[in-house]
Amino acid sequence: MAKRLLTGLQPSGQLHIGNYFGALKPFVSEYGQYESFLMVVDYHALTSLKDPTTLRQNIIDVVKDYVAAGVDPSQAVIFKQSDVQEHTELAWIFDCLVTVPFLMQAHSYKDKVAKGLEANAGLFTYPMLMAADILLYDTDIVPVGADQRQHVEYAREAANKFNVAYGQTFKEPQEKISETVATVPGTDGQKMSKSYKNTIPLFGSKDDISKAVMSIVTDSSGEVPANVYAIHKLVKEESELKSLYEANKGSYKVLKEALIEDIEAVIAPMRDRRASITDEQVKQILKDGADKARAIAQAKMADVRNKVGVSL
Ligand code: ADP
Ligand code: TRP
Repeated sequence: MAKRLLTGLQPSGQLHIGNYFGALKPFVSEYGQYESFLMVVDYHALTSLKDPTTLRQNIIDVVKDYVAAGVDPSQAVIFKQSDVQEHTELAWIFDCLVTVPFLMQAHSYKDKVAKGLEANAGLFTYPMLMAADILLYDTDIVPVGADQRQHVEYAREAANKFNVAYGQTFKEPQEKISETVATVPGTDGQKMSKSYKNTIPLFGSKDDISKAVMSIVTDSSGEVPANVYAIHKLVKEESELKSLYEANKGSYKVLKEALIEDIEAVIAPMRDRRASITDEQVKQILKDGADKARAIAQAKMADVRNKVGVSL
């Protein structure tokens, strides 16, 4: 049987280049070699987004982003988490297997709380919904950015706890993290994140991209502006960057202008492709994807319900 690759992005805001280089591009370059699944994790987004109009729009936008970035819906199952109810159902079963102190160790939860974001119970149990997303499909590999490493460990833990309690049922998945990308810094130098308002939008206009790049914080301690360089090396070979940064030591404006052009060269063709995708096409893609995903998830949950003792 072909190995399975699965990942998901939250429709919590406009995708940014951190999402692209950390998660989407690695998925695009590999998914053809596997049986692949790409989710829009809308129930995860509900932990932070409470506006229905925005959520609806974001869901459509993320699917357009996937397709524009090069995911062919006939080659990967593109679906929306909330369309497959088995995800929330299995998450509940995992919630009943793990302890509160275990969930309290999640970095993402601790970081969001430290930033003063609302700590609703959904945010707290978020890793178990993610574990369900992954484990329902007997996923082998989960391509994600470095910040999600611990969440995939949580999924392995959930699988293990269930297997010990009820017998072998779930496969333990492996994260796949692009070491050259790791964590893309935002304009303020922290991890680029939709929730920190420090992003360079993936499909923004050239003007949006320019504004974001010009606002990148440059620390003057070294000759190379670290945050500008860290983003620049994602869109241009480091061998080519060497001479550019050498010739323009301390000229942050020149370097940022070069970065804008290099980002634009990568994004413009995808942006054009994106403009031709209609909302109707997106709805059809999600419907077809949900049908395929549901068939797999339902079979798995029948086994799970039987094992935990709720089906008679
Ligand atoms: P955000 O933090 O912007 O809300 P998500 O949590 O939805 O992003 O992340 C979606 C995917 O993008 C995950 O695989 C995550 O690891 C990756 N990702 C997010 N931000 C970055 C970043 N700054 N650098 C690398 N990968 C990232
Ligand atoms: N938690 C992930 C993030 O914020 C999104 C996600 C949810 C996910 N379920 C997943 C990623 C399953 C990979 C596999 O980025």
